[in-house]
Amino acid sequence: MVFNFFLPQINLFFGRGALENIGEEAKKLGRSALLVTGKSSMARLGFLDETIDYLQKAGIDVTHFDKVIPNPTTELVDEGAKLALENDCNLVVALGGGSSIDVAKTIAVVVGHSTEEFHSIWEFSPSHDSPKAITSKTLPIIAVTSTSGTGSHLSRFSVITNPWLKEKVGIPSEYIFPKVSIVDVNILKGMPPALTAECGVDVLTHCLEGLISKQSNPMSEELALKGIELVFDHLPKAYRDGDNLKSREGMALADTYAGLVITTSRVTLTHALSHPISAYYPDISHGAALAALTPAGMEFNIAGGDENTLQKFCLAAGAMGKKVYGTSEEEAMKSVEGVRELLSKIDMDMSLMDLGVEPKRIREIVNSAFKSCKGPLLANPVEVNERDLTRVLKASVQQKISKR
Ligand code: NZQ
Ligand code: MN
Repeated sequence: MVFNFFLPQINLFFGRGALENIGEEAKKLGRSALLVTGKSSMARLGFLDETIDYLQKAGIDVTHFDKVIPNPTTELVDEGAKLALENDCNLVVALGGGSSIDVAKTIAVVVGHSTEEFHSIWEFSPSHDSPKAITSKTLPIIAVTSTSGTGSHLSRFSVITNPWLKEKVGIPSEYIFPKVSIVDVNILKGMPPALTAECGVDVLTHCLEGLISKQSNPMSEELALKGIELVFDHLPKAYRDGDNLKSREGMALADTYAGLVITTSRVTLTHALSHPISAYYPDISHGAALAALTPAGMEFNIAGGDENTLQKFCLAAGAMGKKVYGTSEEEAMKSVEGVRELLSKIDMDMSLMDLGVEPKRIREIVNSAFKSCKGPLLANPVEVNERDLTRVLKASVQQKISKR
């Protein structure tokens, strides 16, 4: 057995009230923070003021950048970086979902590497012709996650869209791991049902795709299976009753495991297709695109999968509570059945057509996936060509009728 499991140096605080640690932790990392948030949710729920208060009491100057939108863009990152440079910030704090954390991570990259001249984040993109290296000059990052979805608080990726090129890319670096990561269940309780469901699908797919990835290993596989089990136990309850703290905690833990899973194993086919969809249709959330793509993506990988891949799908079905007998394509299909049942319980059984994806865009989406999501496609257990991606997309366009 030979494998690599990257253990990042992250100080993780998990549980109710964990936010109170932010002041003491920030003091160890910097004196002037850029605080990155979305436009309204954290202010509305009172966590913005609470965070600023903790930071200021610890003697940290705070500059607030509150412009993050879902599916954040390169322009937004550059704008935040300029604000941080103007205010001489030496620490970046994210308070929000994956979008805010990803913007914070990439602002930290741009600021750290722009001491002589300004470098746009796009210069660091793996899909750039000659990407600039991300180094230890990157500013330290603190991530307070407000969703249970992306695993960004523990992952080595920041996912950013270039709206001109219609590319949404995962920018990877070991230097963008947050130094401190805070998962406070009080904050997660604010997620409305639709967001809970979309983010829950993201967690599930990180575990499923990481499990079957060519880059998986025994440690990430255990985390992925536990993550799937937690999602099936807790997501429907968290969706129906957002105040159920046990379910919120279960999903937060699943998200945390899943962040480590994708850091080591990467994601695969369905993520590679979901990103160009959000690049072409910025109003389609990451989780919604994944929900529409996952059943067909799984079926494709089961149909073409070797014994090892089929076995992993069977293990996944077991983690979903299915009775599985041996390893076969038929038994592996029980995992797809499990996913469809779960999607239906959380009202996420939708097709790409329901989401407004036009069949005429399929060719462009496929091309964008090959350009900007090479890593996930290479990690897919079954080799894919353009015809395969087109087939999965066509199946996902038609697949089901939404309840929404
Ligand atoms: O913007 P505000 O006003 O804060 O509202 C947000 C936003 O409208 C709201 N929200 C967040 N937390 C809330 C809340 N509302 C009430 N209560 C709370 N506690 O939710 C909306 C969506 O926020 P966003 O940050 O976009 O959601 P999510 O966490 O799903 O992040 C999605 C982004 O992360 C990327 C996705 O591609 C997408 O761009 N991903 C990042 C990954 C990574 N860095 O490793 C991996 C993932 O696969 C994913 O690609
Ligand atoms: Mn994801």
